[in-house]
Order: sequence, then structure tokens, then C-alpha cells
Amino acid sequence: MALVTALDRLAALPRAELGGWPTPLHLAERFSEAVGVEVWLKRDDVQSVALAGNKLRKFELVLGQAVADGATTLVTTGAAQSNSARTGAAAATRLGLDTVLLLSGERPDDVGGNLLLDRMLGVDVRFCGDVTWRELNALVEAVGDEVAAGGGMAVAAPIGCSSPLGSLGFAVARLELDAQLDALGLTPTAIVHTSTSGGTHAGFLVGEELSPRSIPTIAVNVGHVLDDPSSDMATLATAAGSLIGLDRAWLADEIEVLDGVGPGYGRHTDEGAEAIALLARTEAIICDPVYSGKGLAGFLAAVRRGEITGPVVFWHTGGFHAVFDRHHGDQLLERLPDV
Ligand SMILES: Cc1ncc(COP(=O)(O)O)c(C=O)c1O
Repeated sequence: MALVTALDRLAALPRAELGGWPTPLHLAERFSEAVGVEVWLKRDDVQSVALAGNKLRKFELVLGQAVADGATTLVTTGAAQSNSARTGAAAATRLGLDTVLLLSGERPDDVGGNLLLDRMLGVDVRFCGDVTWRELNALVEAVGDEVAAGGGMAVAAPIGCSSPLGSLGFAVARLELDAQLDALGLTPTAIVHTSTSGGTHAGFLVGEELSPRSIPTIAVNVGHVLDDPSSDMATLATAAGSLIGLDRAWLADEIEVLDGVGPGYGRHTDEGAEAIALLARTEAIICDPVYSGKGLAGFLAAVRRGEITGPVVFWHTGGFHAVFDRHHGDQLLERLPDV
């Protein structure tokens, strides 16, 4: 399939207009000086609905198709502080759809961060106890039946909205970045971003295929959603590409993944707190201790090992909301380096 046709197909996908594009791209001058490498920040933390973040790009496509199909209700899943669930709820609300969020764990006593926003949005939040990600996905089907019994139609988005269609939001994102790089006359050595469920990275891989530029994209994995991040992301990219007619099968050994999980998903690290403090104290830009802060820490470690040189784009995927959750806020405070 010719690239031009794949590009046309990508452009023709129904897309919910939620706004906020392109997100800013700018040089982080003081941060660059501190780390010794020229770092450009792509600001997906700056967005249109409910202080969104990277997941909005996926929901634009998933909900664009859902609205075209006549769906009435979004059903999606995540942890209590899920950015994806909150972003989906925000996007669905803006589009006039109902939302059911199936969240793992028990309902916490404190309602802060993303959970507070879910409550503010007025969506149906259900806690599902100690379930695996897979069990949670199975519960989504039951809600779909419930919605159908009430005369509605549910659209399901998996963990992180990392379906093949959702992932294509990051193929669009990569082309958006290309236009900004062209305008600036900038040629980065790499794009580095935080990764969990893999859709962001899978979309970037498809975008790289569509782009006339060649820029290695490096994922810093901070979660345990994927059993085998490299091969799962290769599979997801292949499925996403085939939706727009790309005949390209990615292989696990083509995928660049840095391990940034540390002691576990959602567990804070000193390195994460140090990275958060460095960006906040040089640029006044906020990362969170579960996702973007750990991604930034993985990025800094690779810079310090000499594996990444400038100019480089760190793609800020958002997610600062967890900072306003008491549990995460307290833990972060304990680890922040002294001034
Ligand atoms: C702030 C933030 N950054 C990065 C990611 C990872 O994106 P993906 O799940 O597409 O790998 C997430 C996922 O929840 C996130 O919330």
C-alpha cells in the first residue's frame, strides 16, 4: 500500500474534535543546561478537556468512531488514579456520551487527583476490587450488556485506550511533530516518552513509517500492563498500521524500550522525585511520580550513560494530576531533594 494512501486513510478516520492541537514544542533552556544536552519538550500536558494529557489523542479517534457508530456510553478501565480513564470520561462528557469507569482496587477514603476529577465530571465510577487487568477487561463486556439492555450502545476502550485505533492517535501526533520540526529547522536525535500500555509507542512507530524523517523513538516503560513490552508493542503497531492499509510487521527487536518501572508500577522512586524536582525547579513544568516523572528519570539516566545526545525531544505525556492525590503527594514530598 502506497504511503500516500495510508496517510489519506489516517486523515479520513472519524475524529472527535476536542481541540488543543498542536501541543507546544519548545526548548527547555535551563533544564538542558542542567543535564548537559539540548532538550526540547513536546507538551501533551497542555490540553483542552479536564487537563487531559497523552490519552486524549487516542480518545479523539476511538470516540470519533464511536459517535459515528451511534454509541451512547464509553466504558473503560484503569487504576484509581488512571489518567486514561479520567481523560476518556472528560472527552466523552464533552461529546455528550455517558461514561462508566471500572477501576481496580477498593474505593479509597481520600478522593484526590484523577478520582476527584472523575467525581467532578459526574461519571459512573465503579471499583472492582483486587482484579487483574484482564479480569477488568472482561467486566467491560458485562457493562456493555447492561447498557444494551437499557437501549443504549457501549463503546469499550481497553486499559490505556491502547487499541489499534487509539494507538493511531500517536501516528497523527508524530506528523504533528514533524510539521513543528520543519518550521524550526530542527533535527532531533531521538524522541523519548513514557510508556505503559504501549499504544503511544505503537502509534509513534506507525508515524515513523509515514514520515519522511527518520527519528528513533524510545519508550521508557513504567508499568506492568504488557507481559513483554517490546513484542506486545510490535504486535500493536502492526495491527494499528494495518487499519490504514500499511503492510508492515514490526519485530520485537526493532522496539527501543528502557526499563523505568523500578520497584513496581505506581511505586515511587528517588530517581523519579529527583527528575520531577529538576524539571520543576528549572522550567516550572510538572511531572507526576507514577508516569511522566519515572519516564523523565529513565530519560535522564540514559543521558547520563551517554546513550542519548541532543537535540532530543522529551514528549511530556502529562499526568500531573496524581500529585494532588494525598497518597501520592505525601510520598513525593518525602522523596523530593532538599533545596
Ligand atoms: C501520563 C501518562 N504518560 C504515559 C502513559 C503511557 O502511555 P501508553 O499507555 O500509551 O503506553 C500513560 C498511561 O496511562 C500516562 O497516563
